Amino acid sequence: LRIAVLASGRGSNFAALLAARERGELPVEFVLVATDKAAAPVLQLAQMAGIPTMVLDPRDYADRRAYDFALFDRIGASKPDLLVLAGFMRIIDGEALKPWVGRMINIHPSLLPKYRGLHTHRRALKAGDLQHGASVHYVTAELDGGPVIAQASMPVEAGDDESTLAERLLPLEHQLLPAVVALIAAGRLALGENGIVFDQQAL
Ligand code: GRF
Repeated sequence: LRIAVLASGRGSNFAALLAARERGELPVEFVLVATDKAAAPVLQLAQMAGIPTMVLDPRDYADRRAYDFALFDRIGASKPDLLVLAGFMRIIDGEALKPWVGRMINIHPSLLPKYRGLHTHRRALKAGDLQHGASVHYVTAELDGGPVIAQASMPVEAGDDESTLAERLLPLEHQLLPAVVALIAAGRLALGENGIVFDQQAL
């Protein structure tokens, strides 16, 4: 499976994918790491691993749609089978992403359908949630609203703040994302017309 990763920042979820591949748990090839931020640390991680990178600056485009079409056009040139959004902090135009529906997944730090969008840890705390977590879902035109593939959850503890929640959740994200990519690589799940189709053997 040929994978392109889109990320805007630190890249710890990308690093977790790389590590899973190193351990022999992920039979994939990383064909591209694309980012909207020239200073994103994820770029160094990719370069050190010898993976091609691409920086596309939104400021060079007239509007979101123009940017997103250019982005997917260039990503498409690397012929990926799957796009993985790993901390890609942009809303993507619905028309531009249409050709990729079913071939693009995102990791989001909440138990979807709760807390689409930003500040998920803060919102979970404010709501007094007893559980918090992360979700991997197929990307559709609805922001953080596509079919959920899998989730990891953990208890919220007394005294938790935004940063302790984020810190405890991250290692769970680092297990969840490679696990889902491994299932897709094994051909054990896909997005069908009526939602996600699982190969029963996988469960
Ligand atoms: C993660 O919490 C991810 O769920 C969210 O953005 C963060 C990215 O972290 N979408 P990293 O860049 O993978 O370290």
